[in-house]
Amino acid sequence: MKKSEKTAISEEMASKLGKLFEQEIRDIYWVEKALLKALPKMAKKATSPDLVTALQDHLTETEEQVSRVERIFGMLNKEPRAKKCEAMEGLLKEAEEVTGEAEEGAMRDAAIIASVQKVEHYEISSYGTLRTFAQTLQLDEAVTILETTLEEEKKADTLLTEVAVSNVNNEAAWEPAE
Ligand SMILES: [Fe+2]
Repeated sequence: MKKSEKTAISEEMASKLGKLFEQEIRDIYWVEKALLKALPKMAKKATSPDLVTALQDHLTETEEQVSRVERIFGMLNKEPRAKKCEAMEGLLKEAEEVTGEAEEGAMRDAAIIASVQKVEHYEISSYGTLRTFAQTLQLDEAVTILETTLEEEKKADTLLTEVAVSNVNNEAAWEPAE
């Protein structure tokens, strides 16, 4: 077998992986659109100005991420169509519960950060997989787009850790528990 035959993806494999890629793109499309609604709610509940800014900035990034996903639908010659992501629905439901129960201030901020970081980790995992699928499918332009978003998600996650470490967690630790 020649090297090119060994490394080239077969047509059958490409079409199966292509279907999976499309399904995952529809999943992340649902996720990003759900976050357009969830992030402003979290920002409203937050107290730390650093956290409010981080959430608002990530909302602006998310708007851009939605349009990036739409561009990928365009590359696939498909209409943008979301597929409900049960996992994200669960994470957001849990976020509502946890942040709703926490008292306003540093405690609630810590709960918001914990919830949003779970969301970020889901997204980092999804975009990592999508990027790898796109590489295998040789969708070079999609690889670049997905990597851009992947890096943004990683930065958002790191920033939230910094906000937590720099102020929120310390304050929460010193707030008397009820
Ligand atoms: Fe995102």
